Amino acid sequence: MQTVGVIGAGQMGSGISQVVAQAGMKVLLSDVDIALAEKAKDGIGKAFAKLVSREKLTPDEADAAFARIVPVADYAPMADAQLIIEAATEREEVKRRIFESAGKVLAATAILASNTSSIPITRMATSSPDPARFIGLHFFNPVPVMGLIEVIPGLATAKDTVSRTRAFADALGKQIVQTEDEPGFVVNRILLPMINEAVFVLGQGTANIADIDKGCRIGLNHPMGPLELADFVGLDTCLDIVKVLYNTTGDSKYRPAPLLMKYVEAGWLGRKSGRGFYDYSGDVPVPTR
Ligand code: CAA
Ligand code: NAD
Repeated sequence: MQTVGVIGAGQMGSGISQVVAQAGMKVLLSDVDIALAEKAKDGIGKAFAKLVSREKLTPDEADAAFARIVPVADYAPMADAQLIIEAATEREEVKRRIFESAGKVLAATAILASNTSSIPITRMATSSPDPARFIGLHFFNPVPVMGLIEVIPGLATAKDTVSRTRAFADALGKQIVQTEDEPGFVVNRILLPMINEAVFVLGQGTANIADIDKGCRIGLNHPMGPLELADFVGLDTCLDIVKVLYNTTGDSKYRPAPLLMKYVEAGWLGRKSGRGFYDYSGDVPVPTR
């Protein structure tokens, strides 16, 4: 691949753009407006500056990778891309509208991929111009640090699409787990019930936020406790994923924790909004319960 389109310039779209540019490819980055794509590029510039200061990247490498990221106002320039990766909000209707619009410029052999955390690929492929060239490409957060990509072919995805997508993931230096198209794929099918259960544990007053996280950090040797991790992922995204698991399977074990719904309704979305289970307004995050 030489040119990759990225749609959605939030934390995942930014991380994806960073690693794709570092791998030597041009990135066309878009969001609902160009200001958001430009803001994301500024954030990536700060990440590059940090890597330079830690001598993990030379200033020349950082400058060249930064220059390869081009914010765009609409999808027209993505006609030059061999791959377009959608990394917008975890809402099926939002993603479907993007596939319909981006599909109008998608080049004849290009691949349209979704970074969805949970939504079935086969179902969303019906909004793309060619389901044979539609695939799930699930990165992990923070993208520059996490070594895994899940590759999820839908029912109609062509073998050639799968092999080209795997080659792209290889070129980024990531390990691949290829999964069947089931809601939540492999990792989130396991992770999100844990996060949701941690919110039930909090809501039932079994322990406070600090102790739930301490228990899992020390007792399970996880780098972050489940509530810290939920804040890191985004509580809106966590709730959207749990809802997909629940609505798609109809299995009551995936019912969203009422307290998770309440936090999202309050606009407490985690790190990205400055408050979730922790308050991020000071130098160190402070548990709110
Ligand atoms: N670019 C490149 N490197 C970066 C970076 C970036 N943007 N951000 C951080 N790093 C590097 C740092 O340079 C540092 O490297 P060294 O150790 O070699 O110096 C390393 O990453 C760790 O960074 P920090 O010291 O800043 O932070 P930390 O040690 O506290 O680790 C963390 C932060 C990596 C996020 C760690 O807490 C962690 O692994 N947490 C769990 C993350 C996780 O589980 N992610 C999956 C979420 S679920 C998901 O993604 C799927 C979904 O669909 C919801
Ligand atoms: P985010 O809230 O940080 O960013 C979402 C971005 O999408 C925002 O910048 C928003 O303006 C943009 N957006 C919304 N509607 C759009 C549209 N119509 N066109 C273009 N852009 C639009 O969310 P995120 O954490 O980056 O998650 C993005 C996707 O990646 C979701 O599907 C999520 O499930 C998935 N994902 C998230 C994580 C995570 O840990 N946060 C990990 C893996 C995958």
